[in-house]
Amino acid sequence: MTLAISPLRPDETEAAVALWEACGLTRPWNDPRADIALALSRPSSTILAGRIDSKLVATAMTGSDGHRGWVYYLAVDPTAQRKGYGAAMMHAAAAWLREIGAPKLHVMIRSENLGVAAFYARLGYVKSDTITMATRL
Ligand SMILES: CC(C)(COP(=O)(O)OP(=O)(O)OC[C@H]1O[C@@H](n2cnc3c(N)ncnc32)[C@H](O)[C@@H]1OP(=O)(O)O)[C@@H](O)C(=O)NCCC(=O)NCCS
Repeated sequence: MTLAISPLRPDETEAAVALWEACGLTRPWNDPRADIALALSRPSSTILAGRIDSKLVATAMTGSDGHRGWVYYLAVDPTAQRKGYGAAMMHAAAAWLREIGAPKLHVMIRSENLGVAAFYARLGYVKSDTITMATRL
């Protein structure tokens, strides 16, 4: 079935949060609803939604920090995985970033989720020799 991809609507927030929970992407220190509201409120970011028959089955939050593009919350419903939807979401995110002039796309993989690197490698992504560090603002 063809995945229809367009920006997430605010009324799909709860469906997106449920999808992220099902995919193990939520963490107690992040507020997914606030993350959705922020990403949808700026011209430099968006959340792409993939739907089958109007039902949300995939997401990819994407945006540019002014230098690089990033993808977060890449999720495909566990019952719909391995059908090419994850790849389709990453292609759509790359196209969105190209459109706003971002020259490069990075993804961060949590250390407990390193197995997913094989998915990105399948799409042609190569390991970047960096570590990320962070502070709360
Ligand atoms: C990662 C994820 C988005 C992949 O979605 P998907 O729809 O199953 O992926 P696709 O079907 O588009 O797979 C594309 C290719 O990658 C391969 N692939 C997918 N997941 C893989 C995995 N975990 N390990 C190895 N290869 C994988 C597929 O076999 C396919 O290869 P092919 O082109 O040879 O057929 C999905 O597994 C998911 O939502 N995981 C939980 C959330 C997560 O970890 N997100 C990423 C955070 S960094």
